[in-house]
Amino acid sequence: QNARESLYIVSEYAASYFANELWTGNDGRAIGLSYFKERGFREDILKKFQLGYSPDIWDALIQSAAGAGHKEEYLEKTGLAIRNDKGKLYDRFRGRVMFPIHNFTGRVIGFGGRTLKTDKNVPKYVNSPESDIYHKSNVLYGLYHAKKAIRDLDNCYLVEGYADVLAVHQAGIENVVASSGTSLTTEQIRLIGRFTQNVTILYDGDAAGIKASLRGLDMILEEGLNVKVVLFPDGHDPDSYMHHVGSGEFKKYIEENRRDFILYKANILLKEAGTDPIKRAGIIRDIIESIAKIPDDIKAAVFIRECSNLLQVEERILLSELNKMRAAKL
Ligand code: CTP
Ligand code: MN
Ligand code: MN
Ligand code: MN
Ligand code: MN
Repeated sequence: QNARESLYIVSEYAASYFANELWTGNDGRAIGLSYFKERGFREDILKKFQLGYSPDIWDALIQSAAGAGHKEEYLEKTGLAIRNDKGKLYDRFRGRVMFPIHNFTGRVIGFGGRTLKTDKNVPKYVNSPESDIYHKSNVLYGLYHAKKAIRDLDNCYLVEGYADVLAVHQAGIENVVASSGTSLTTEQIRLIGRFTQNVTILYDGDAAGIKASLRGLDMILEEGLNVKVVLFPDGHDPDSYMHHVGSGEFKKYIEENRRDFILYKANILLKEAGTDPIKRAGIIRDIIESIAKIPDDIKAAVFIRECSNLLQVEERILLSELNKMRAAKL
């Protein structure tokens, strides 16, 4: 049995320990399970994603793992336990609801733990550190549970957070993964590319989410994938919006508000620019910059045509701008 295998095994032990606490522990039920229920999550979803609860005790997992014969070494190497200056070992996750993170073959490789406190000084999420089995930048939360649907439906919904994956699943949409806060990486996009060429971004409808979506869509285009975007109203994220309007309305909203990246960018940038003609010229350039990232010339030409129609600018002007940008990049 190799070293990595031992890390998977202790992570899987921890996932079942946390899940057992959520469903059978006194605090787990009273605090953790009621928290998920108050947020509107169904039991089948909580079970499917192996959600759990970490007791608010310094060494609950450490003690339980020791009893089951797991070595401290592996708890430390996965970051489930931390050794302090005095050499004493304590649990990383305490008093949090737990989201196990699976790799796409279904092995547990890390965790996200959400606080139940509303105190702004407490970090909302604590995550596993990098380890021999967990490399944050090439993991997509939910991929194991989504990959079949992504292939079958030939589209991948991309959300920001753990709770968004659960909520979108609960609405009956299973082809969804999260970039998990870390700004989207090229590795994550290539991972999606193994299952589909089509990505639909469902980021939070707040300033940070919109900014991240603009950056993300350029990266997706650069990898040669197709990208659409849905913007949620009033600062909602997919989770809050799904629970706000219900699953039927939620699905309808996604269908009706899915925009290709040109229209999405144009809407956002035009809103910012108002009637200022110089700013409006900047928008055209900004959109062409995105088109310039598309490796396929024929696809790029189609989007230039759309851009020309939408913004009422002659196609040949847009094309010459596109060629200038491409030449500058070479
Ligand atoms: N995140 C993180 N650490 C933080 C805040 C966020 O790792 N301190 C990651 C988490 O993966 C989180 C995602 O970024 O799910 C999106 O962040 P945010 O929108 O702030 O949280 P939500 O997912 O909406 O969390 P919740 O609905 O539970 O409040
Ligand atoms: Mn957010
Ligand atoms: Mn509302
Ligand atoms: Mn959010
Ligand atoms: Mn949220």
